[in-house]
Amino acid sequence: MRILVTGGTGFIGSNTCVELMKNGHEVIIVDNLYNSKIDVLEKIENITGQMPRFYQTDILDHDGLESVFKIHSFDAVIHFAGYKAVGESVEKPLLYYRNNIAGSINLYEIMHKYQVKKLVFSSSATVYGDDFEVPFKEEYGLGTTTNPYGTTKKMNEMIISDMGYADPEISSVILRYFNPIGADETGLLGEHPNGIPNNLVPYIAQVVSGQRDYLRVWGDDYDTPDGTGVRDYIHVVDLARAHVKAIEYAAEHIGTEVINIGTGKGYSVLEVLHAYEKACGKEIPYKIMDRRPGDIAVCYADTKKAKELLGFEAEYDIDKMCQDSYRFTQNSI
Ligand code: NAD
Ligand code: UFG
Repeated sequence: MRILVTGGTGFIGSNTCVELMKNGHEVIIVDNLYNSKIDVLEKIENITGQMPRFYQTDILDHDGLESVFKIHSFDAVIHFAGYKAVGESVEKPLLYYRNNIAGSINLYEIMHKYQVKKLVFSSSATVYGDDFEVPFKEEYGLGTTTNPYGTTKKMNEMIISDMGYADPEISSVILRYFNPIGADETGLLGEHPNGIPNNLVPYIAQVVSGQRDYLRVWGDDYDTPDGTGVRDYIHVVDLARAHVKAIEYAAEHIGTEVINIGTGKGYSVLEVLHAYEKACGKEIPYKIMDRRPGDIAVCYADTKKAKELLGFEAEYDIDKMCQDSYRFTQNSI
């Protein structure tokens, strides 16, 4: 298939482009480089032997985006482009609604005009909110989101599902990611957060590389085995492989499907810290702090639907996720 990948130079997008190309798909990337670097393209070429076509285009630029559809006829779209910082979304909600909603509507309108009817969308476990029991099941539907970022994911899910009602030939797969971490095995394609990392593994990586003094563990009084928060971490390459399965599923089916992508296992903050210590061979300092507002105690996926519909199961464990993250960090210094 010839696939448009929005946000394809980002963390998950770049790893997905590699897996798509390895599976014989043609990839065309659109990204405005807001949160990624142009050298990612060379890294993709180093890994796959092929340089993907790239357009530095903002999805908010309707005409610019449409011009890409005039040049290429796409079989499908994988839509990653968006902002993703939860805290920033609370401070700047309109920025998030414009980029993640208005940008997506531009894309969906142009897809409609050019009759591109297959879509995979990056959603998040955040849409379950704090309303349900773990493991989170797709059939629970949408919970109460606690920040504008989460609401943009929920709204995109609703828009995509409404588009599916209006046009029964549309085939969309909404993937709800749990906590993607790690990097590809060559250590070239990982996560480079701007400023102070909000997420656990990028923060640990900066403690290990000496940029931060210690990890701040947000609370050890949750109702979990060691009191720290439990999440379903998934290796980014496993997640990338799930996209290949999802787009191939979309090519053969119609309708809208919502599918969790996680491992189905939860690890606590301290378990991740200890796995990372094993990977880097040193002790990682940490301090227990108060709970972070908005955090839930435990979040992990029910993975049955991914297995049944896509034949997808994550392969990599927490040790491999930390080893690959550490290799990427070493390469980036
Ligand atoms: P990322 O920031 O590394 O990648 C997103 C890419 O989109 C970046 O390269 C950025 O430059 C680009 N972009 C942003 N706005 C754009 C615009 N208006 N026009 C064109 N390009 C634009 O993030 P990621 O971790 O790879 O996440 C990819 C998607 O997955 C996002 O939609 C994110 O919300 C979603 N997601 C991520 C996580 C996670 O923990 N990383 C979890 C759940 C869902
Ligand atoms: N944590 C710390 N210290 C840190 C960072 C995180 O103790 O410096 C803890 C958190 O309290 C939580 C766990 O590590 O218990 C994971 O936190 P992350 O910030 O890495 O991830 P979240 O589960 O909070 O959120 C992530 C993404 C969201 C997405 C959600 C579900 O940031 O965008 O996963 O997919 F919605």
